[in-house]
Amino acid sequence: MYKDKTPEKIIVGNDLFTPFISEKKINKRVKELGKEITNDYKGKLPVFIGVLNGASLFHADLIRSVELDCEIDFFKLSSYGDDKISSGRVKLVKDLGCDVKGRDIIIVEDIVDSGLSIKFIEEMMEKHEPASMAVASLLVKPKSLRYNVKIDYIGFNIPDKFVIGYGLDYAQKYRNLRAIYAINNEI
Ligand code: IMP
Ligand code: MG
Repeated sequence: MYKDKTPEKIIVGNDLFTPFISEKKINKRVKELGKEITNDYKGKLPVFIGVLNGASLFHADLIRSVELDCEIDFFKLSSYGDDKISSGRVKLVKDLGCDVKGRDIIIVEDIVDSGLSIKFIEEMMEKHEPASMAVASLLVKPKSLRYNVKIDYIGFNIPDKFVIGYGLDYAQKYRNLRAIYAINNEI
């Protein structure tokens, strides 16, 4: 186990990961998103719905950047399995604990890749009849998008590269890195 949460490189099998978005940049951007959401939801009581496990860190930081009363909840989807390639299938593993009917909900995601997960979430949430639904994703890979989805709050648009850290995993590990690292296959 590494003691350093901001190492210069991480080697996983034959893959090399190098620093991509620093802790400082992430913190700054999350604060900006928090301000934007604060302005957009004045006088409302939004529910921030985090998508486990990847969005847990972003969710925790985002709600602390928002100057509003709010509520939180989570659900969990199965997605990537244990590798870098999506299974192409999504299923609900843990459902919400609250009733979102008539509520203003903000879905909080770590990353939108093909958009399949967000599409699935939107369709599922619409059945619960929220008053409004917005999506906040820390990262979006615009070149990978295969589904027509609208992301209302985007932290960073990034190239189509596999990334880890700040909640994002590779085979469930590396979520506790403070920065985001991108695969850099040079070994
Ligand atoms: P999508 O359904 O293809 O948009 O994929 C979204 C989900 O796949 C995210 O919520 C992540 O959990 C996972 N994912 C996509 N890209 C990456 C990545 O680069 N690193 C880690 N997880 C990823
Ligand atoms: Mg996720």
